Amino acid sequence: MSDSDTGNTNNTNNTDIIKVMNVTKNYSLGSSEVEVLHDIDLNIKSGEFVSIMGQSGSGKTTLMNLIGMLDRPTSGNILINGSDITGHSQKELVEMRRRAVGFIFQQFHLIPSLTAYENVALPLVFAGMKDEGAVASAMERVGLSHRMHHKPSELSGGEQQRVAIARAVVMKSEILLADEPTGALDAVTGDRIISLLKSLAGEMTVIMVTHNRELAAHSDRIIELQDGCVKK
Ligand SMILES: Nc1ncnc2c1ncn2[C@@H]1O[C@H](COP(=O)(O)OP(=O)(O)O)[C@@H](O)[C@H]1O
Ligand SMILES: [Mg+2]
Repeated sequence: MSDSDTGNTNNTNNTDIIKVMNVTKNYSLGSSEVEVLHDIDLNIKSGEFVSIMGQSGSGKTTLMNLIGMLDRPTSGNILINGSDITGHSQKELVEMRRRAVGFIFQQFHLIPSLTAYENVALPLVFAGMKDEGAVASAMERVGLSHRMHHKPSELSGGEQQRVAIARAVVMKSEILLADEPTGALDAVTGDRIISLLKSLAGEMTVIMVTHNRELAAHSDRIIELQDGCVKK
């Protein structure tokens, strides 16, 4: 069925870029095991903008870390672009993460001694790639072409988060994972960051954790976690 048949007017296409299948995640604490995610099933379409909500401790960051290949599920499978990553070696995961996923966090996580330009260039450096204008175009994408040579301490919180977004998109990854990206920002600045994420969706698949229902309402879909399960 085409988009016109379904009346689908958003800019997603119909392929699932991420499939989370029967995923459970336990952490061991001393001698006991704690189940943090229980039997999660999710399909996320390419280009979709999805919000993940849920109380503190409900497993949101754990789920992001699994999708972002920073951690492995205890059981179940995760498919990225149809490829089951649960069988991948550590080396393959690092390689795939580098190409496929950009991350942003509540506290920006920029390197204080580097300029905005140098921070954004880091993923290229790690991948052994030449700049070829990618940094300038990522900085332009987030509206910060005039702040290339500023250090993080010389930028506002909102500007620092924009630099972090530029760093997350410089590799032209297909997936952007944002864990409480507006948590350290005032309301107006937070709104601007959400507008920017929304403008990136379509080109990328954007998954955002937020506590703010008004901000989540800007996404295509809200997934709620409760006690380690997806709320029906
Ligand atoms: N590395 C870890 N080892 C043990 N327990 C953890 C670890 N990371 C998270 N947890 C526990 O898993 C639960 C979910 O954590 P998290 O995914 O960070 O939740 P959220 O992001 O929704 O606040 C919490 O109870 C937390 O204490
Ligand atoms: Mg969290």
